[in-house]
Amino acid sequence: MKVLVATDKPFAKAAVDGIRNIVEGAGHELALLEKYTDVNDFYAAVKDADALIVRSDKVTKEVIDAAQNLKIVVRAGAGYDNLDLAACTAKNIVAMNTPGQNSNAVAELALGMMVFMARNQFTPGTGGELLGKKLGIHAYGNVGRLVAKIAKGFGMDVYAFDPFVSAEKMSAEGIKPCQSIEEMYSTCQYISLHIPANNQTKKSIGYDLLSKMPKGGCLVNTARKEVIHEEELVKVLEERADLKYITDIAADNQAELNEKFGTSVFASPKKMGAETAEANINAGLASANQIIKFFQTGDTTFKVN
Ligand code: 3PG
Repeated sequence: MKVLVATDKPFAKAAVDGIRNIVEGAGHELALLEKYTDVNDFYAAVKDADALIVRSDKVTKEVIDAAQNLKIVVRAGAGYDNLDLAACTAKNIVAMNTPGQNSNAVAELALGMMVFMARNQFTPGTGGELLGKKLGIHAYGNVGRLVAKIAKGFGMDVYAFDPFVSAEKMSAEGIKPCQSIEEMYSTCQYISLHIPANNQTKKSIGYDLLSKMPKGGCLVNTARKEVIHEEELVKVLEERADLKYITDIAADNQAELNEKFGTSVFASPKKMGAETAEANINAGLASANQIIKFFQTGDTTFKVN
């Protein structure tokens, strides 16, 4: 079987070496397509692949149509909004993710971003501290739980809202459960987003929620740009000079945000939440192992379609 790793943003070398060991050790062939700039190169490379590993690379219907032997695609990471699941399902291709494998890297970045904004993006002048501040975790999944854990180490007062997680579970972990999303946004000075981008969440963070935030509020987005209602973000920042927005995924209107709001906003030049050697190794090797297990036993744990 041929396993293709197609990564516009390549894995660390140690991760690629580990993937190769797993794939070749199981008697399969590994092909690499890294830093491609032309999607036609992706179509050509996937043509005879039996399995595909990607990161945020868009696995569109065109990619799926170009693949003549594909049986499984694994998104080495958590969010699988880059996979056309309907196209996969239509061709009986199993789609998987690797939940939890890169969560710690994203969680550490979220806290780093809070410090960065509390210290005015490291520009000279008096900043603030995280100690004693209220943090709201918007979605208490793998990343949210780790953010909560690290934030408690900073002495933050941690709240969470997640309709899929019981209040009992949150309380047992020392987190204050919020009854509604509005309650959390009006309570917490820091809000950290950990929701996926889907039809329910896209553009869901906008004026109504953000205008409820307390004075000096800061929204931290290590999730997806699509969950933000960008025009409403501009509106609320125009009305509230005290609010801040930091994101790991630049908004479509980031140039406008930067120009209008200066150091109240910040976007990473390229999404870097999962850009650690550790996260690359964890997610990359998990992807390879999931593929080998699927070929050997038909195991479909982590299937998302
Ligand atoms: C994820 O969903 O796992 C993260 O957004 C990581 O994305 P990346 O692999 O493109 O860095």
